[in-house]
Amino acid sequence: MKDLSRFEIHGAVAITPGNGGLPKVALKHPSGSSAEIYLHGAHVTSWRDGRGEELFFLSRESNWAADKPIRGGIPVCWPQFGGQGTLPQHGFVRTNPWTLAGTEELPGGNVAVTLRLSENDATLKLWPHRFEFELRVTLSASSLRLGAQAGNTGDQPFEFQIALHTYFTIADIHRAAVRGLQGTTMIDALRENAREADAQPEIRFDRETDRVYVSAPDTLSIRDEAAGRTFAIRKSGMSDVVVWNPWIAKSQRMPDFGDDEYLRMVCVETGNMANRIRLAPGQPWRGETVLSAVRD
Ligand code: BG6
Repeated sequence: MKDLSRFEIHGAVAITPGNGGLPKVALKHPSGSSAEIYLHGAHVTSWRDGRGEELFFLSRESNWAADKPIRGGIPVCWPQFGGQGTLPQHGFVRTNPWTLAGTEELPGGNVAVTLRLSENDATLKLWPHRFEFELRVTLSASSLRLGAQAGNTGDQPFEFQIALHTYFTIADIHRAAVRGLQGTTMIDALRENAREADAQPEIRFDRETDRVYVSAPDTLSIRDEAAGRTFAIRKSGMSDVVVWNPWIAKSQRMPDFGDDEYLRMVCVETGNMANRIRLAPGQPWRGETVLSAVRD
């Protein structure tokens, strides 16, 4: 592992080899909350509250290798969502090594890390565009802020989709609900992309679920009744939300996901999945998502 010790901050930021020897940045807040971010994919793999309770799902079957995505936490999907294009599934930034651009201890104890990725030989082979993508992760006592920024550093416009593909930990999926999306138009991947307004006051889970909510409200929540916890999700500059649970058959088909793990997670993803964003040369794009978790 490259020497990254100049980015360490005593008591707040530590950098060590993580699983698979991949470099990992650990953030610590004076309240006791913490987070871990891998340079591989700028992938947040852990977020713990002040009591030390893990708030993200991470699969016990996850790969930890330079050419494979991590299963759980927050994969960054860019510049393509899912299989909606010619690029690898969910784009390529989740399987690229990002550069550590900076770490900071902010007044009040918040801790931030900034990671950057620009085009390289591997990305240019897949996608002929010059870009700079930055992800800034800020840990506070009770929230995790994810600031994403994409720039077009080339001389031709390009288009992209984005998803912060967050895997939340859930004590029992049968007793979980996603709230705040009632009335929003959804595109249901499991019904040939049928489009309709969701009439349900909350989304409950008893089967595979894979939907894009188009122009979704900026605040929503996940209620985990069994854990007595509510996650709040607040987005800005990002229009859509994806709700995903693979349920039984798909869990069995995914080699990097345990057969029973669908019971303990839900993905509620923020981004721009329904419509591509067009970025002219020199034009920046910014989007932000703030997550918080409250126990009863
Ligand atoms: C979701 C998609 O965002 O990601 C699903 O809507 C997909 O269709 C899931 O199965 C996981 O994708 P991957 O590539 O990480 O297995």
